Amino acid sequence: MKDKIEQIIQDTSAILIKNNAQLEEFRIKYLGTKGVLKDMFDAFKLVPNENKKEYGQLLNVLKSHVEYIFSTNKEALEVSAENSVVDFDVTMPGTPLELGARHPISIIKNEMIEIFARIGFAVAEGPEIEDDWHNFTALNTPEDHPARDMQDTFYINENTLLRTHTSPVQIRLMENEAPPIRVITPGRVYRNETISARAHCTFHQVEGLYINENVSFADLKQTLLYFAKEMFGQNVEIRLRPSFFPFTEPSAELDITCFICDRKGCPVCKGSGWVEIGGCGMVDPAVLQNCKIDDQKYTGFAFGMGIERIALLKYGIDDIRLFYENDVRFLKQFGS
Ligand code: PHE
Repeated sequence: MKDKIEQIIQDTSAILIKNNAQLEEFRIKYLGTKGVLKDMFDAFKLVPNENKKEYGQLLNVLKSHVEYIFSTNKEALEVSAENSVVDFDVTMPGTPLELGARHPISIIKNEMIEIFARIGFAVAEGPEIEDDWHNFTALNTPEDHPARDMQDTFYINENTLLRTHTSPVQIRLMENEAPPIRVITPGRVYRNETISARAHCTFHQVEGLYINENVSFADLKQTLLYFAKEMFGQNVEIRLRPSFFPFTEPSAELDITCFICDRKGCPVCKGSGWVEIGGCGMVDPAVLQNCKIDDQKYTGFAFGMGIERIALLKYGIDDIRLFYENDVRFLKQFGS
């Protein structure tokens, strides 16, 4: 009986079932009321009692084996039947996959990164959730500076906030690396401003930092001029207006000639022929000291620009809110 069981297991394992007729044949032969398994269980009744336990177990193995072969073949036939139903016209053209477009903010950001990379600026990024030290104190922004006011800064707790500019990334770099340092820091920043066509509570900046021996204001001006011409065209000129930032001294506001009206005066430049695109200056020695950089040996310049501002100008968009609404009709217009 043992041999017979083994023989059946071998036979059924090697069987190839290709269609439903063969499956039915298999069922009748092995699992049917007059089938092989039935015969075996009949024969089992005559097995002497002392062998009943052993043979019984073997018979159960045989039974589940045969049932397994049957059910797996049945399933396989069902699946292939489903797959072979051709109920569509294979000659019809397929649904085209629409190509996405890059977000205008990403396009401008990447363009800025490329321009600065050509003159040796690396890219650095840092956390959007910052501490007071990196966002303000190290940047020589005293306790009572208006920029710290609750209405400008989103505080998470007393010491933790959403960065209001990407300058803290520069502090982190200066704390950890020895000069020369030449980086730009693109990223998202947050300010608690009333949302309007011109301002939003979240926007993007590209800030830059160059620290080395003998870095001068002329280097800063030349760098910004190079950037402006690469970004807006060779006819563009820049203007630096004296200004104030706690972390730079002297500080300036960066204007470019309005290329929309070619300096004749239009609503975008409010008739002045110039538009502001950022701030800049020579890194205040106090900032270098805060980062343990020798301010007798090294000087540096820094600048910061808003990506939205540049994108608005370049694409002639009149509402900053469009950048965050993710309306595909707007986004589709920008090739990638
Ligand atoms: N951090 C300034 C801002 O966010 C921009 C800036 C950067 C100004 C570097 C001067 C120098 O407004």
